[in-house]
Amino acid sequence: MVSLDTVQQTNSTIKKYGPGLAGVFVGGTSGIGEATARSFVEHATSPRVYLIGRNEAQASKIIEELTRLNSESQIRFVKCDVSLLRRVDEACRSIQEKEEKVNLLFMSSGIFTTKGRDETEEGLDKKLSLHYYSRMRFLTNLLPQLNAASQVNTSEAEAGLVQEGLSSVISILGAGGEGSLVLDDLSLKNNYSIRNCAKHAITMTSLSVETLAKSHPSVSFVHSYPGVVSTGLMRDFNVVARTMMRVLFTVAKPFTVPVEESGQRHLYAAILKAGQPHLVGWDGEPRGNQRVLSEYREKKTGEAVWKHTLDIFNSICG
Ligand SMILES: NC(=O)c1ccc[n+]([C@@H]2O[C@H](COP(=O)([O-])OP(=O)(O)OC[C@H]3O[C@@H](n4cnc5c(N)ncnc54)[C@H](OP(=O)(O)O)[C@@H]3O)[C@@H](O)[C@H]2O)c1
Repeated sequence: MVSLDTVQQTNSTIKKYGPGLAGVFVGGTSGIGEATARSFVEHATSPRVYLIGRNEAQASKIIEELTRLNSESQIRFVKCDVSLLRRVDEACRSIQEKEEKVNLLFMSSGIFTTKGRDETEEGLDKKLSLHYYSRMRFLTNLLPQLNAASQVNTSEAEAGLVQEGLSSVISILGAGGEGSLVLDDLSLKNNYSIRNCAKHAITMTSLSVETLAKSHPSVSFVHSYPGVVSTGLMRDFNVVARTMMRVLFTVAKPFTVPVEESGQRHLYAAILKAGQPHLVGWDGEPRGNQRVLSEYREKKTGEAVWKHTLDIFNSICG
């Protein structure tokens, strides 16, 4: 386990990547995304932050707090229902109008639901879209800005402002929970269950980050399992279920990760480039179901999953 001291010490070195780092936090209006955005703003010099979500009131509160934490930061809210890929494209365009480089793409948008398949108007299951497709859409759209962020501008380097480039993508979901895929129905049109949905989102994320890392070596790709973190994830539960979960969280407190710590640890995972594993646990240690992954690596399933993902994008976004 990486100690919290090491995490904090590493986070304080983020300044070496220069002033004006741009961080995009999809799901930055609550929980792990919000806590990581806070850690980013606390440590970076004059950062620019985009919080993406639906809750405008919550975003205003966070913007006020973060601006107090670092008066040189610029925080913007991009209101977007990211379960819809065409809305994701709009959000990306609004960021691309302002930023040539994106240093950190942090994706933690998600829901906890026990409902069955819940189709969006674009024909994808909402949860699978939030946990996998829409995150990958952000990633593909912002790849030019992420690649640009890995390069250091010579004049900035000569002026001693920047020592190296930072370009990092991190998706918060469930590394380690990989399982077998229904290969002829990856979007689970006909094979939907809560278990299959979790398995597909997790396994397709792990395979895709590994596949993309090969073709974009200057960008760091991470899929993380955050452990059990008390956040707003249960907000859609009814009162009884929420109360039960609160009791459960109180009893299980010694085994949970405080949300502030989770934010610090995820900033660490995002900025630790050298030797960074692609699949990590809440404690910074490598994770991943190697039995499943090595079979899929051998069969080049990652490439097939990525082709499927691009086909879905083409069919919905043109
Ligand atoms: N917390 C845990 O113990 C835990 C454990 C394992 C895995 N995870 C995974 O980690 C991720 C982050 O969880 P968290 O605990 O930080 O959750 P959270 O506090 O509930 O935050 C979820 C974020 O997703 C955004 N979101 C949800 N639906 C959206 C939509 N349709 N459009 C735009 N934004 C949307 C929410 O923003 P708005 O409300 O503003 O829309 C919020 O910012 C999730 O994918 C979760 O499955 C969490």
